[in-house]
Amino acid sequence: MRRIIMSTVAAIALCSAAAADTIKVGVVGPFSGPFALQGKNFKAGIDAYIATHGGGKIGDDDIEIIYRDVPQADPAQSKALAQELVVKEGVQYLAGFYFTPDAMAVTPLLEQANVPLVVMNAATSAIITKSPLIIRTSFTTWQTSAPMAKVAKERGITKVITVVSDYGPGVDAENAFKATFGAEGGTVVESIRMPLATNDFSPIMQRVKDSGAEAVFAFLPSGPTTLGFVKAYNENGLKQAGVQFLAPGDLTQESDLPALGDPALGILTTFHYAVSHDSPENKAFVEAASKAIGNPAELSFPSVGAYDGMHVIYKMIEATGGEQDAQKAVDAVKGLAWESPRGPVEIDASSRHITQNIYLREVAKHEDGTFYNKEIKTFEKQGDPGLAAVK
Ligand code: PHB
Repeated sequence: MRRIIMSTVAAIALCSAAAADTIKVGVVGPFSGPFALQGKNFKAGIDAYIATHGGGKIGDDDIEIIYRDVPQADPAQSKALAQELVVKEGVQYLAGFYFTPDAMAVTPLLEQANVPLVVMNAATSAIITKSPLIIRTSFTTWQTSAPMAKVAKERGITKVITVVSDYGPGVDAENAFKATFGAEGGTVVESIRMPLATNDFSPIMQRVKDSGAEAVFAFLPSGPTTLGFVKAYNENGLKQAGVQFLAPGDLTQESDLPALGDPALGILTTFHYAVSHDSPENKAFVEAASKAIGNPAELSFPSVGAYDGMHVIYKMIEATGGEQDAQKAVDAVKGLAWESPRGPVEIDASSRHITQNIYLREVAKHEDGTFYNKEIKTFEKQGDPGLAAVK
């Protein structure tokens, strides 16, 4: 009898060891509409990570990614889809989220659902303070904009006008630039906030010219918006009028550079990732992500936020043995450090936001005529200065 019980127990143990679970990850992003290329970059980063890390297996378990489309910032739709992913699909992790309002809308769901959220793009500092179950592998506009204020001062610029989209990351970028530039002794002569849907930028360019500023600092969310804005700067004679262009790297994402062409040469931006970043890790990443996206000219920064987000999710799955324990999963990656395609990074243990290098870059041209963001200076190990402003 005892032998029978023993072997039954052993059989059950064997059985559960051999049974592979499928761990589901729900990814929300813009996969259709004007921002579809940004969502395509999420998918390319995720596919590249899976392809280079076991092809969909984590130990005995299988990973399944379930995508949901929110074409433009739409918090109600984002929340409804996240709820559906958790309740109907049984996802253990939520990830993605390009726009801040979409990420903000799902933060109240996480604790009850016992699900961590890995933000792969949305860049307003406050997001991460909304739940202890959030990790961010992208950047914040405070983190990418503050170094630009230092660059402006170093280059002898004293008067700047700021122009931003009037929502979370734009307001953060404006505050970051103003606070840092002010501390450096510079003056922000005027601050313009535009509705997110603005697409005629000529009147704004006129106000920039009339302001008497030596430079314009700008933030808009990357996509057709930024392409239109930089084109308007180029086509309204601002460079000729002596007004320099300063921005975080959202404004010169690589996929927009061919359309911007020669007039964009020399534009200065500060950012966490350039497709041209010179390291073996980035070479391997660009190769895998190019394969995943099909056309390497479409690669841009959301791909690296997603790739590193998958790294964090894999570490959380390993730490929990595939069980659903959101707090244990998040605790396991606090302080996690690794070499990302962007350079050395770490999930800061207290903020759960990514600490990373921010690079000053200049739009440049290869001999073959292709454009790129050339890294020319590094601000090492930058945390998120915006968190002090949230508290
Ligand atoms: C955001 O909504 O947080 C956001 C979107 C696009 C960016 C940066 C931030 O390029």
